[in-house]
Amino acid sequence: MTGEVNIVRLPLGRLQLPEEGLADLWLARPDELPVQAGPMDETPTGNAGDSRKEKLARLRLRQQFLLRLLLGAYMNIPGKDVRLVRSGTGKPVLIPAQAATGLRFSLSHSGDWLMIGIARNHVIGVDIEAHRTMPRARELARRFFHPVESSDLEKREEPDLSRDFLATWTAKEAMVKAAGTGLAGYMDQIVTAPGAPGRLVRVPEDWPDPIHWSLMSLDLPEPLAAHVAMLHPSARWRLNQLQGPGRK
Ligand SMILES: CC(C)(COP(=O)(O)OP(=O)(O)OC[C@H]1O[C@@H](n2cnc3c(N)ncnc32)[C@H](O)[C@@H]1OP(=O)(O)O)[C@@H](O)C(=O)NCCC(=O)NCCS
Repeated sequence: MTGEVNIVRLPLGRLQLPEEGLADLWLARPDELPVQAGPMDETPTGNAGDSRKEKLARLRLRQQFLLRLLLGAYMNIPGKDVRLVRSGTGKPVLIPAQAATGLRFSLSHSGDWLMIGIARNHVIGVDIEAHRTMPRARELARRFFHPVESSDLEKREEPDLSRDFLATWTAKEAMVKAAGTGLAGYMDQIVTAPGAPGRLVRVPEDWPDPIHWSLMSLDLPEPLAAHVAMLHPSARWRLNQLQGPGRK
């Protein structure tokens, strides 16, 4: 599906949870947004530190700030009142009282991009990767992918090799993030159709069968490989891009 992009400008108003089976996707470049994520944050033109470490710390602060802002907008509460905890495998989830709203989410970052996926009642996983050349694509595929997938990738040359590797990678990570398990031991058990990473062939034995899942390849206007997984048999997605008040 090639979706239209719905541009949403800050400040955010109240948001309605999407209907069941619809993934509400939010794409943003946190560094470009006029937000103050805390005392350690400054706008890019401000006086905050400029070392790589400081920039990364500021980016992470802003990612968490935007996640809270968004979750709060769906629950009609301020972002500071959103209560998150980590599962044993590191998946961030709402505390039970807030999860009772039906709100489910997943987050991914790559480079300076952030994507947050929101769903109602069904677990969701999103994964993005900025397009780039992957010099070790074949080696990584042999190590982490199913032989059917890695032998198909062996045949590719650049730039298709890196592009298809990242597409398959994001498909698997989106599934893992929806399931909440963590990557370890699952990458080669989630099998996608060669050349069509949005087509799920097999999942780990103790997971619901592939027919219960939707794995969606996103065709984004930005240079990103991206997939969304939902434990829903016929899910769809729509894309919102967060922008500051002034930007075209
Ligand atoms: C999360 C993971 C699947 C992908 O990470 P990545 O591609 O490097 O980075 P992304 O930006 O796409 O995703 C990171 C985000 O995923 C989320 N996340 C972390 N662990 C997760 C999990 N187990 N399930 C779902 N989402 C998870 C978090 O929101 C995290 O961002 P944050 O730390 O800033 O909040 C990978 O890091 C992983 O496997 N983590 C689990 C570690 C693990 O296996 N621990 C074993 C403990 S038993």
